[in-house]
Amino acid sequence: MKAIVYEHIGDPSVLHLVDRPVPEPDRGEVLVRVAYSGVNPSDWKMRRQFPLPAGWQIPGQDGAGVIEAVGEGVDQDLVGERVWLWEAAWQRPWGTAAEYTVVPVRQAVRLGDASFELGACLGIPFLTAHRCLTAGEYLPDSLRAGALSDHTVLVQGGAGAVGNAAIQLAAWADACVIATVSSAEKAQLAAAAGASVVINYRERDVVEEVRKVAPDGVHTIVEVSPARNAATDVQLLHHGGVVCVYADDGGGEVTLPIGPLVVPNARWQFVLVYTLPKAAKAQAVVDVAAAAAQGGIRVGEEAGLPLHRYPLSATAAAHQAVEDSVVGKVLVSASE
Ligand SMILES: NC(=O)c1ccc[n+]([C@@H]2O[C@H](COP(=O)([O-])OP(=O)(O)OC[C@H]3O[C@@H](n4cnc5c(N)ncnc54)[C@H](OP(=O)(O)O)[C@@H]3O)[C@@H](O)[C@H]2O)c1
Repeated sequence: MKAIVYEHIGDPSVLHLVDRPVPEPDRGEVLVRVAYSGVNPSDWKMRRQFPLPAGWQIPGQDGAGVIEAVGEGVDQDLVGERVWLWEAAWQRPWGTAAEYTVVPVRQAVRLGDASFELGACLGIPFLTAHRCLTAGEYLPDSLRAGALSDHTVLVQGGAGAVGNAAIQLAAWADACVIATVSSAEKAQLAAAAGASVVINYRERDVVEEVRKVAPDGVHTIVEVSPARNAATDVQLLHHGGVVCVYADDGGGEVTLPIGPLVVPNARWQFVLVYTLPKAAKAQAVVDVAAAAAQGGIRVGEEAGLPLHRYPLSATAAAHQAVEDSVVGKVLVSASE
């Protein structure tokens, strides 16, 4: 099979196209013929920083494809099933940037009739967004249509991959969604994703604009830029509200005023998708799969998430695009 491999950490030039034998699924694993690999910032961050215990690594946490074979202990009927994959390369060398990969069976989730492009976009962004929308004390543990009907959610950075996922999931669960962006182009994307109010944070006062829609504050803030936005977030929390922080502002720090946060029993919740509590991760997988099956999640410009497709041989360019913060979602086609 063709695969992208790196044997040293570094810039995108460490990624090489190689020929390898198709792997055999171990006990409890499935072999998947990959259609698309979804590229996330953590793919390039790991490529630049993480040690390689196996001495080599195929990158790519997310993906989608078809189960071709199963290992011992796995139901043979799964062969032929269309699936989406999550965390394929987390503490294992078999990522999705290859014609085939092997994953534990619980990390291959039925995709039904949804497209492989959609499947490859689900893993990291949507599981992260799900946690952000369910981690507060007064939030439901699971999402479905109607689950957030009494809630207002502020998504800081509504044109980002996780921001888009948070808007789509919150809108599917019937929340009132407000999003911030930095340009008119990004405002269109956030609105297409399902935000009912979009604020350009470069041109408008976010606190003033949010208060027009939510005079008592918002229940959840999905936060991409916690250091820069902390002073804004403090002023916007509803009683019992939560700020869910999933990015680190390039190593930023947050200082919070105690008084204004004690009174409403507010929370700051930190989120890393790889190390979520087990039950929360399992629920996120179930709910995201349901949202995709019901058409509650979409991809492409019309859903606020433009797709950028690269052939497998151009995976280095795909990584570079994500490092350069391209707007939308980068996909690698494993069959090209
Ligand atoms: N903790 C986790 O489990 C987890 C999961 C996924 C991703 N992440 C991390 O989260 C970050 C974002 O990932 P992504 O895939 O969503 O990236 P992305 O698609 O590049 O989106 C980032 C978005 O944040 C916006 N932004 C930046 N500063 C902002 C600010 N002060 N206020 C509002 N919006 C702001 C950017 O737009 P403008 O600059 O134009 O505003 C951009 O739309 C990365 O660092 C990634 O590693 C963490």
